[in-house]
Amino acid sequence: MSELNSKVDVSIAGTGSYVPERVLTNDELASMVDTSNEWILTRTGIRERHIAAEGEYTSHMASHAARRALEQAGMQASEIELIIVATITPDTPTPATACHVQQQIGANRAVAFDISAACSGFLYAMKIAKRLISDGAFQNALIIGAEKLSTVTNWQDRTTCVLFGDGAGAAVLRRSQPGEGAIVATEMGTDGNLTHLLEIAGGGSACPITAANVHENLATLSMQGKEVFKHAVTRMKEAAEKVIERAGWKPEEIACVIPHQANLRIIDAIADRLAVPNDRVFVNLDKYGNTSAAAVAIALDEANRKGAFHRGDRIVLVVFGAGLTWAAAAIRW
Ligand code: UT7
Repeated sequence: MSELNSKVDVSIAGTGSYVPERVLTNDELASMVDTSNEWILTRTGIRERHIAAEGEYTSHMASHAARRALEQAGMQASEIELIIVATITPDTPTPATACHVQQQIGANRAVAFDISAACSGFLYAMKIAKRLISDGAFQNALIIGAEKLSTVTNWQDRTTCVLFGDGAGAAVLRRSQPGEGAIVATEMGTDGNLTHLLEIAGGGSACPITAANVHENLATLSMQGKEVFKHAVTRMKEAAEKVIERAGWKPEEIACVIPHQANLRIIDAIADRLAVPNDRVFVNLDKYGNTSAAAVAIALDEANRKGAFHRGDRIVLVVFGAGLTWAAAAIRW
């Protein structure tokens, strides 16, 4: 069953991901701030994360992931009509990182723009692209979640610096061919009353970085972790339930749930509440930490390449992040 009012089905033709070479372990972090491998592992499930090299930008990681997704889809970059990059760490405030990606991969025909929805960005991009394809505006789209969070991390703040990592994930969306799957149902939500719970306060028009405040770490992420945790569990559960219900599925029919990768305790709580067995919930945050918009995209690609689901299987993606924002998608693969 397709999403209400959609004219044609839209499927995911290929996925790709990329993480930088450099690995930063919990033990290394323990030599930088007052923390321990034991604390990080038991409170979050994270063992290590990847950190981009100095000259390696968000667009470079995005382009690597995009090429891999195109290769899997069996498509050339020149065929792509739309590129949406979801990121909170663009190469520059303007132009959009998607424009750099267009140039780097040679997708000369593509319309390209960024969206900012933090960790929910990849699924926001999926909904936008799906709608634009099903309405006939574009034949296909490349959606990418890409982040260089290491540039907005306060490396002196143990409450946040142990959480984040760099990377990118991509998917090629196109009108479903006969026998292909479909993005069956989507859900998005926002609560702008809670912007203060997770933010980068400086570096924008509200609080530009000046010579006077440059040492105050204003251009780095700050988070009220406990509060965010509670909202994450509630909103992700609700969003996942909505798309499962709209798709007309039962929890036991779902082959794989791919949640935002922020904290293993959040993921376990959602699996419990959705009554989906833990072995059907995909987790890779132990290797990458929280890569914001990239996280669910990297997880989707890894799960796909590992054979965690097959043609015709029912999968659910669900995310949550700053804004607060949340989203979910029910996909027949
Ligand atoms: O991607 C967007 C969505 N983000 C999320 O969903 C993240 C949601 N939040 C979380 O994942 C968790 O709240 C955290 C992992 C951020 C924190 O875990 P927590 O169990 O909520 O810990 P807490 O903030 O309540 O801190 C417990 C204790 C505190 O010490 P006291 O006050 O009990 O003495 C902290 O100071 O742990 C201390 N602490 C640390 N200790 C060692 C905080 N960070 C660290 C650390 N190492 N890195």
